[in-house]
Amino acid sequence: MRTISFVNIKGGVGKTTTAMAFALILAREMGKRVLVIDATIQHHMTRWLGITEQEPLVTLADIMLRRELPIEMAIRHTDYGVDLIPSSFALSSANRTILIDASSPAQFRLKMKVAAVADRYDYCIIDCPPDVDVAVANALAISNEVLIPMDCSDFSMDGMDYLFQAMNAAAEYNPDLRFPGVFLTMDVKNSTLAADMRRALEEEGVPCFEQTIRHAVGVKKSTRTAPVILSQPQAAVCDDYRSLVKEYLEVKNGL
Ligand SMILES: Nc1ncnc2c1ncn2[C@@H]1O[C@H](COP(=O)(O)OP(=O)(O)OP(=O)(O)O)[C@@H](O)[C@H]1O
Ligand SMILES: [Mg+2]
Repeated sequence: MRTISFVNIKGGVGKTTTAMAFALILAREMGKRVLVIDATIQHHMTRWLGITEQEPLVTLADIMLRRELPIEMAIRHTDYGVDLIPSSFALSSANRTILIDASSPAQFRLKMKVAAVADRYDYCIIDCPPDVDVAVANALAISNEVLIPMDCSDFSMDGMDYLFQAMNAAAEYNPDLRFPGVFLTMDVKNSTLAADMRRALEEEGVPCFEQTIRHAVGVKKSTRTAPVILSQPQAAVCDDYRSLVKEYLEVKNGL
């Protein structure tokens, strides 16, 4: 199983939208077995995949908090060809509880549990919050790759140093961790935004994917009800996601 975390300390850059597109393209269009982990308090992916606060809903928070709880208890089969470890608002207090619970290291709450189901999946896709919290530390501890979306209409590298520090710290306890690069989102047609951003990244020595994700009003419109990859699979922006997945698959082979 190959595990990819979508990470950025900045909010609203396209982490969840892209993570969902990756998961659904790999599963529905490429026939891969995909496990999605929703590591966010907002739990948009969980809602998009049709999992609501049914009782009893075993979530990522329970899996991280309760040592005896097997991961199978949290895995939900969805109607969309992927399995999901759902999240809920309970993740917020779980993150805090784990920080003060010294009974086992905070960043290794998922490692053994996810390893137990690794042979059942080809890919594990983790959607992270705009933060480096306990859930993200756990995601980094089990990831092969970190992908960072950057909004190229917001010309700023704010928070990148902090993010790289977190990734370097994680690499000490997860030597498999690789960073194939940043990818640019919200690219506006006929603008120099992506080129300018690409140049700024190059100056900082930060690798960047060739494929950018265009800004498309349709993405925002569908967000409330469904990810664009489900609501408008024929949209041009979905071809951007498909090309990005393809580029990722090529790049990761060379890592
Ligand atoms: N390519 C795009 N074109 C236009 N709007 C987009 C695009 N990608 C994402 N959006 C919109 O931008 C907003 C943020 O996207 P998304 O939720 O994927 O970002 P995020 O990084 O996961 O945010 P958060 O940090 O809050 O979790 C959403 O309203 C989404 O619909
Ligand atoms: Mg998100």
